[in-house]
Amino acid sequence: MNLTSLVRTSHITRTFTHSIKPISSSSSVSLSHTPTSLNPKPKTPLYLKPPIYTTSLSSLKKFQKWAKTLSSSVNASFKDSSNLHQELNWLLQDSLQNPNILQTHEENDNLVALRLKLDDLYDLWTQRIEKRRPFQYIVGCEHWRDLILSVEEGVLIPRPETELIVDLVNDVIKGGGENGDLGNGLWVDLGTGSGAIAIGIGRVLGDLGRVVGVDLSDVAVRVASYNVERYNLQDKISIKQGSWFEPLSEFKGQVAGLVSNPPYIPSGHIDGLQPEVGRHEPILALDGGDDGMSDLLHICNGAASMLKSGGFLAFETNGEDHCRFLFDHMETIHKESFCNLKIVPDFAGIQRFVTGFRS
Ligand SMILES: C[S@@+](CC[C@H](N)C(=O)[O-])C[C@H]1O[C@@H](n2cnc3c(N)ncnc32)[C@H](O)[C@@H]1O
Repeated sequence: MNLTSLVRTSHITRTFTHSIKPISSSSSVSLSHTPTSLNPKPKTPLYLKPPIYTTSLSSLKKFQKWAKTLSSSVNASFKDSSNLHQELNWLLQDSLQNPNILQTHEENDNLVALRLKLDDLYDLWTQRIEKRRPFQYIVGCEHWRDLILSVEEGVLIPRPETELIVDLVNDVIKGGGENGDLGNGLWVDLGTGSGAIAIGIGRVLGDLGRVVGVDLSDVAVRVASYNVERYNLQDKISIKQGSWFEPLSEFKGQVAGLVSNPPYIPSGHIDGLQPEVGRHEPILALDGGDDGMSDLLHICNGAASMLKSGGFLAFETNGEDHCRFLFDHMETIHKESFCNLKIVPDFAGIQRFVTGFRS
């Protein structure tokens, strides 16, 4: 597993990324902050918490120095320590009511407003460094496309390469042509996790169509529902709990688009994942069986009965071999059911997605 680049679009394969844009509560996206009825309620991202704590500027600067020193001391075990410095800046930005206060060269006892206790900042940074807890779980969110998605332990942190699925859907919907009515239909995101793809598609659809996101995991269902509510899309997107097609029997043959980024890491590779991923992200979201293909094949084999004629499908895979295998599988076993099958590369040029249309 590789890459911890700060440039989100250069992220190559499913791995933990430290790349997250600075978060500011003055973000242009409009978010509703207080979804109700999700029990237990998903965690509020740090940048949305009220700034009800205070500390002195000098104490905050002392924390900053301590955290930088701790980051520098672990150069060897983190692939790119400069990312840690960037993460520290972002953590402070999310924590402070007025992040500009850190630009001052003064150290005084003036009070600054924080969204968490100073002790908790020390604790979180220790977790980041010593336990390799992913930065996104520490601040409780991830920037993905134009969204800021709530994430917490138990739900996969959405990856940059997955953003392309929404672009592919957008191209199909906006492209019109013989599939011109797809934007008015039902779209399904299998294994929705944080709801990233479902919400991305929901926003592409605009006033038309609707989306169902499915996940087996309790935490994913809660977090996805929370994110859907935060973006005020609960009338357009429903999140259902269950295994793959199980909760969708009523939609057989009616689905306009089916997308999925299922678990696809071969079981034997899980131990070798970088600590942020292997120790902290949910195994249910990662483990794709012996060759990483179990879920991909299951979804691929069930897709034909769900899609209506002309319906679109897009699956994310582990890369070149998976893409070629799935493509060949669909061209031979499901030859009658699909047409215009393609392998599509990700931002880094790696063959990542298989797409096609229901005949
Ligand atoms: C790789 S994650 C993708 C999450 C999200 N779509 C994204 O791209 O960030 C795969 C998701 O599939 C879910 N999953 C695993 N097995 C499942 C099953 N049998 N039925 C439904 N969802 C499942 C996991 O809980 C996880 O959320």
